[in-house]
Amino acid sequence: MSFMQIKDLCVHYPIRGGFFNTVVDQVYAVDGITMEFDKGKTYGLVGESGCGKSTTGKAIIGLERITSGSIIYEGEEVTNQRRKRNSAYNRDVQMIFQDSHSSMNPRKRVSDILAEPIRNFTNMTPDEERRRINELLAIVGMPEDAKHKYPHEFSGGQRQRLGIARAVACNPKLIIADEPVSALDLSVQAQVLNFMQDIQDEYGLSYLFISHDLGVVKHMCDDIAIMYRGRFVERGTSKEIYADPRHIYTHRLLSAIPNIEPETRLERKVERLQVEKDYKDKQHNYYDENGKVHPLQPITDTHFVAMLNAEGGN
Ligand SMILES: Nc1ncnc2c1ncn2[C@@H]1O[C@H](COP(=O)(O)OP(=O)(O)O)[C@@H](O)[C@H]1O
Ligand SMILES: [Mg+2]
Repeated sequence: MSFMQIKDLCVHYPIRGGFFNTVVDQVYAVDGITMEFDKGKTYGLVGESGCGKSTTGKAIIGLERITSGSIIYEGEEVTNQRRKRNSAYNRDVQMIFQDSHSSMNPRKRVSDILAEPIRNFTNMTPDEERRRINELLAIVGMPEDAKHKYPHEFSGGQRQRLGIARAVACNPKLIIADEPVSALDLSVQAQVLNFMQDIQDEYGLSYLFISHDLGVVKHMCDDIAIMYRGRFVERGTSKEIYADPRHIYTHRLLSAIPNIEPETRLERKVERLQVEKDYKDKQHNYYDENGKVHPLQPITDTHFVAMLNAEGGN
């Protein structure tokens, strides 16, 4: 049974204009998404830049106002409680940001940055707090003397590990990781992802892993949702998404994964051209006349796709 459900979440931003500065239109940043989280699992949220991934993450954690929809946590409606400080929900749901540089106060030492959630959510004595901070640094493979330093004294990968340490400080249930490795070198990406997986295995955490790249999430996720213009075009287990993609947009993201095997390069190019052609020819099957994504239809118990005639495939 899932510990958290998100139902029909919408975040619309008003666009103001005209002489009276009235609301002239809306940006449908998130437009009716539904998902649920099981303990210890990793969920991928994938789509191109601007499709509404960060807004989804921020709405869930309470940094963004929700237009409609609900969030149920451990059987309780928390939609309007997310902004309350010190609530169990705020302790149990944490976020890691892409830009670790701006998500940490540059004037604070690491010890203070890590102490912040501990002071907010627990009643530890100074001694217990010190021990917990050492423990957190050990968990993310950083030396103990790191706590005397400032964020700018670290590399991007190290800073991202400190972000993970801060997020796990109070034993959360769900961590929303918004493109946590997109700003890092390839070699460092793997290292940070490995840390995230080790921590998950040890503490039974769940992740909502946000990425614009289906290649990066391939080995991380149990389930994946593909997002386009604020809606899900496809949802399924990792296997279903990679082995049996149904939506043309999913095909498109898959064909965009860089290829490092020279033997199949030509084949992939032909495939990519075919996907582009299909994308132009078969629009109506996947989007309505306003370019809006159709409602999701079930293909299996776990696989959903937003298209007409879902049974027939494509
Ligand atoms: N505060 C805001 N006001 C108006 N529009 C916004 C605001 N924040 C984001 N948007 C718009 O919402 C859409 C989704 O943005 P975002 O969630 O950041 O996308 P992603 O993280 O997938 O790149 C974009 O079109 C963006 O321009
Ligand atoms: Mg984003």
